[in-house]
Amino acid sequence: MRAWEVAEGFGRDHLRLVERADPEPAAGELLLRLRAASLNYRDLMMVEGRYNPRQPLPLVPCSDGVGEVLAVGAGVRGFAVGDRVCPIFAPRWLAGEPDRERMRTTLGGPLDGTLRERMTIAAEAVVRPPEQLSDAEAASLPCAAVTAWSALVEQGRLRAGETVLVLGTGGVALFALQIALLHGARVIVTSSSDEKLERVRSMGAWETVNYTREKAWGKRVRELAGDGVDHVIEVGGAGTLAESLRAVRMGGTVHLIGVLAGGEASVVLAQIFMQQVRVQGVLVGSKASFESLNRALALHRVKPVVDRTFGFDEMPAAFDHMAAGAHFGKICIAIG
Ligand SMILES: NC(=O)c1ccc[n+]([C@@H]2O[C@H](COP(=O)([O-])OP(=O)(O)OC[C@H]3O[C@@H](n4cnc5c(N)ncnc54)[C@H](OP(=O)(O)O)[C@@H]3O)[C@@H](O)[C@H]2O)c1
Repeated sequence: MRAWEVAEGFGRDHLRLVERADPEPAAGELLLRLRAASLNYRDLMMVEGRYNPRQPLPLVPCSDGVGEVLAVGAGVRGFAVGDRVCPIFAPRWLAGEPDRERMRTTLGGPLDGTLRERMTIAAEAVVRPPEQLSDAEAASLPCAAVTAWSALVEQGRLRAGETVLVLGTGGVALFALQIALLHGARVIVTSSSDEKLERVRSMGAWETVNYTREKAWGKRVRELAGDGVDHVIEVGGAGTLAESLRAVRMGGTVHLIGVLAGGEASVVLAQIFMQQVRVQGVLVGSKASFESLNRALALHRVKPVVDRTFGFDEMPAAFDHMAAGAHFGKICIAIG
């Protein structure tokens, strides 16, 4: 089978398409023929050595994908050849709270990921994506959509009528917009692009702010919402946290998810305690979270936003496309 590896050092220029032996399913495992994968910003950081510089190489990048069951290992019940499944991001985190042990084995680093034609995976570590989704759409769910769901719905207990601020128009951001709308929330979106802001308005965003033009976007958002938003989907990190803390209402929640604008922040702590703000770290989610997300997406026939689907041979270009930041939603890869 063919697989993409980052080998002999980090960097997009070290991505290599290689031949590897076809894997065989052990007892309790499924053998999958992968049909599609999707990129997360984490994958770009991983390939560039910015996520974990001590990650052993070679590594097959990417945590997200969808595949068809090709063979079923001994003792596996409930799956048949031809079933369509998505591996979960952290194969040992099935339900409940995360712990270090469960999070030590995640796909696309430290474990080999989904940029390959075949993979084996424990049968308990897959979910069935909603049937109405294409392969590219299904492949976009495991990290970005589960993260947005676990932030807003599971940890944030989002309620109808609340206001959510979503930063940017990347993968996590657009899932957060869709999930917030599904729950009857009012959504404000920021972006560097007026054209992208037009697109989120057509998806149902209530208000929009161009964060490159409006440097004090936190204050602007606070005013738009009345006296601050109930939830912030914080994907920017160091470069955006101070404005996010201006945008949130007293007693509201900042869901700390990403580091698109830097990973080390200096924070005015009074901005947090004087407003009794809840700063909640989010780390994707469990299999149980993924399954409840899928039920909601299937029932409401929500379609993930796929920016573009690249061919399996075009991986360096797909990563370059993500690095350029011009995408809207998910970047996907068709495999086989
Ligand atoms: N904690 C977790 O469990 C978890 C899970 C998934 C992702 N993440 C993290 O969350 C972040 C987003 O991931 P992703 O895969 O959704 O990324 P992505 O699709 O690459 O998002 C890129 C978009 O983010 C926006 N952006 C960039 N810098 C920004 C800034 N300074 N302010 C506001 N928006 C900005 C831009 O939107 P515009 O072009 O509209 O300006 C850009 O197009 C990453 O840091 C990732 O590592 C964490």
